[in-house]
Amino acid sequence: MQTIEVNGLVFEEYLSAENIAEIVGNVAERINTDYTGKEPLFICVLNGAFMYASDLFKKITLPSEITFVRLKSYEGTATTGEVKILTPLTMDIQGRDVIIIEDIVDTGLTMHGFMHQLRGMGANSVELTSFLFKPEALKYADATPKYIGLEIPTKFVLGYGLDFDEKGRNLPALYVLRS
Ligand code: IMP
Ligand code: MG
Repeated sequence: MQTIEVNGLVFEEYLSAENIAEIVGNVAERINTDYTGKEPLFICVLNGAFMYASDLFKKITLPSEITFVRLKSYEGTATTGEVKILTPLTMDIQGRDVIIIEDIVDTGLTMHGFMHQLRGMGANSVELTSFLFKPEALKYADATPKYIGLEIPTKFVLGYGLDFDEKGRNLPALYVLRS
């Protein structure tokens, strides 16, 4: 088992770069099929999703566009939660078929808030793909991704764009915190 140390914590390899490529290819195939005849607009959620978005977008064979937002979510006392947009959308999404690209859905707070905002901006449809999904951690059912790369247990992971205190994003494989 290959292990690495990041900021004093030990992580074990969970998915190899080859496993990841296969997972991403499967998601792309489903989207290519479901959106045949459409021109989807992908919205990559920075920072974590940049690697997944890059690999996924290269495998999309539809006429399509991509744009980027940077989000920060806040855990409020209200059940709806609040999502702050640090870098806002610069594209008009009126009438568009939007597919959000996220790295991981954990409690679902971030995507619950963001999808609600997008629907209020006149998109024709709003769907979500997430490379990883932690179903047991989900608190907002409407943030369940339609296109999931892999469901994982509620454990901390890093690599392939995901960070631990901004470290580890450059790792081409995915690692899980040793328990
Ligand atoms: P949520 O709003 O609780 O669904 O959290 C989503 C965000 O938390 C993701 O976009 C990630 O940035 C971060 N996150 C959640 N779980 C992990 C993890 O295991 N590793 C790294 N980042 C994570
Ligand atoms: Mg993220």
